[in-house]
Amino acid sequence: MPRLSVWFIRASLIYLLTGFSLGAWLLANNGLNFAPSAWGLLPSHIEFLMLGWIIQLALGTAYWILPRHSKGPARGSLSLGWASFGLINLGVLLSASTGLLPAGFQAAGKGLEILGSVFFVVLLWPRVKAYGV
Ligand code: HEM
Repeated sequence: MPRLSVWFIRASLIYLLTGFSLGAWLLANNGLNFAPSAWGLLPSHIEFLMLGWIIQLALGTAYWILPRHSKGPARGSLSLGWASFGLINLGVLLSASTGLLPAGFQAAGKGLEILGSVFFVVLLWPRVKAYGV
């Protein structure tokens, strides 16, 4: 497995753990109502599980598995791949910072996620091809 996939998938597993833990905390609070402020964690729960866990697992696996180039770097530009990884992860952390940082940071986080996704699409698009092409 290429190193970039290792990082995408390890990061996704960390988000799985943190996202499920936040979910368990919310669920417990739903029944016992011990900390009304816990609801402030709902946006982080959603961000960690949807973007951090599910999407990153898919990105790491796609980068690894899709057909490789026959000429030049086998999986395309490495720097584009790492830039995408960095932008998406910084974006997830900033987007999940509701209650910790001013709203502008969450908006910036979404912007970074979009830019990271654009980089990833540019990187992977030429590798989506039929056999023999
Ligand atoms: C991949 C797994 C998961 C995803 C994508 C996910 C996503 C979401 C989303 C989108 C919401 C907001 C729903 C809404 O506002 O209507 C939510 C709420 C919630 N999630 Fe998760 N979740 C996941 C797993 C879990 C787990 C494992 C737990 C508990 C251990 C959990 C506990 C909760 C709770 C307590 C709420 C609030 C429900 C309420 O409004 O009363 N989630 N989750």
